[in-house]
Amino acid sequence: MEWSAIWSEGVNVLAVICLQFGDTGKGKIVDLCAEEADIIARGTGGSNAGHTICANGRTHITHIIPSSISYTDKTHIIGNGVAFNPQIVIQELQLLDDEKISYDNLLIALNAKLTLPHHLLIDRLKEKGSGKIGTTGQGIAPTYVDYYNRTGLMVNDMLNPDIFKRKLERNLEYNQRIIASYNPEDIAEIMQHPALGSGIFYRNGSFDIDQIIASYMEYGERLLPMITDTDKFLRKAVKNGKRIVLEGAQGALLSILLGLGTYPYVTSSNASIGGLAEGVGLSVDEVDRIFGIAKAPYMTRVGDGPFPTELGGAKSAEHCRTKGVNRDSEMEQYPTNLSISDDFQLGVSLRQAGNEYGATTGRPRRTGWLDLPLLLHAVNSINSNKLELVLTKLDVLTGYPRIKLCDGYSYEGPTQRYGGRIFSKGDILTEAIPYAEIIEHCRPMYQEFPGWNIDISEVESVDDLPPQLVMITSFIERSVKKPISLLSVGKDREQTIDNRTH
Ligand code: IMP
Repeated sequence: MEWSAIWSEGVNVLAVICLQFGDTGKGKIVDLCAEEADIIARGTGGSNAGHTICANGRTHITHIIPSSISYTDKTHIIGNGVAFNPQIVIQELQLLDDEKISYDNLLIALNAKLTLPHHLLIDRLKEKGSGKIGTTGQGIAPTYVDYYNRTGLMVNDMLNPDIFKRKLERNLEYNQRIIASYNPEDIAEIMQHPALGSGIFYRNGSFDIDQIIASYMEYGERLLPMITDTDKFLRKAVKNGKRIVLEGAQGALLSILLGLGTYPYVTSSNASIGGLAEGVGLSVDEVDRIFGIAKAPYMTRVGDGPFPTELGGAKSAEHCRTKGVNRDSEMEQYPTNLSISDDFQLGVSLRQAGNEYGATTGRPRRTGWLDLPLLLHAVNSINSNKLELVLTKLDVLTGYPRIKLCDGYSYEGPTQRYGGRIFSKGDILTEAIPYAEIIEHCRPMYQEFPGWNIDISEVESVDDLPPQLVMITSFIERSVKKPISLLSVGKDREQTIDNRTH
């Protein structure tokens, strides 16, 4: 398809967000939107995200620097809403230097939220206790906690040694008390991790504040040419009619907002459209078009939290959180079998077919059928007539004899209230309720569809798609009452079909 069609009349700001639990192939869609854009900006998440950069025949994963950086003629922005870990960014800049990719047009928000070594420590210590939710261990929640607690530091503080020291001391005065409540051996062990500076920030059982200051001043100096007021830059760009792509991170159902994600099994920024716009200093009204990405007809989730359609249920969740499970171990133990009747093994086969293993950690992603009540909830929460759906990874299920779509739940838990609404055993829901204690008791109800057997990865027009697949996409469209604009049938950008002709 022609990428210029994406920038139809009146579209200057285009946002790409995920409507599920992340890992839906947003990067590819951002990439094809970026082709004709002037600026690409991210405004949420931090080093918990993974971006793929292909250069000189090699593939690299970055966490903070977006993959669009390979477009050297465009401006790339790390916005104010990002949890900014300078140590990681500097490592990623080194990678770009090694690959001879220019980053002259990279701008970093002076008001991005600064991640400090003890944020990673607190995140990892918390994961050892009953508050564990399966985080990425990148210090995301503690960074935002400090921000909302008004003890946080921002990127600009790295440029002012006295201010940095004063704020850091105040911050640590509070955080040391929290850290002191944990096991000193766990603390000493975690502080040795390379992500926390391989021990340089921690000596003789306490933080070396002077070392943190020295390192962060060095980081500040290195990043100085890129640090600027990106909020102002973007507002001006909007006024001047520049084409801007806003790149979301994670997914709407992982948003911190109560009433949107599956709290507390979420990340700590608002991964939906409001958080993204705010995280780059714009308002939602300034966004002209929203691409909401959903994997179909299956979906995935990483980390803990309710997932009603998970193939293999609790067994799968437990298996995926077991240390040492990865693609190789699964291939050996469970050879791919698309027609197997056992749900757990079907889930493993699906993971293998879609290569659903964490980009950085290799963690297996939990797999399940597409959950339409959750998708409908995400769509309704965004509540915008600018929202269009993009379905990704459609090629993965080629060859599966039966496809199931969850179009409702039967509530199977104890009687519970959600405001004035009472949920009792046997109640039927067609839209998910964003309350983990309700979702975890929802049993999915399915519609079954015949699968398709022809390779769709080279199909260019919706007219050439197998009718079985069209039945499925039409069912999704009707269920969530939103148009599906694009269909992704492979990882290359050419493998994208314009569905609006349908
Ligand atoms: P945190 O963002 O590291 O605090 O992790 C909180 C939850 O969000 C965990 O369940 C993570 O697995 C999940 N999460 C964070 N980033 C991503 C992502 O990029 N893709 C999918 N899940 C994510």
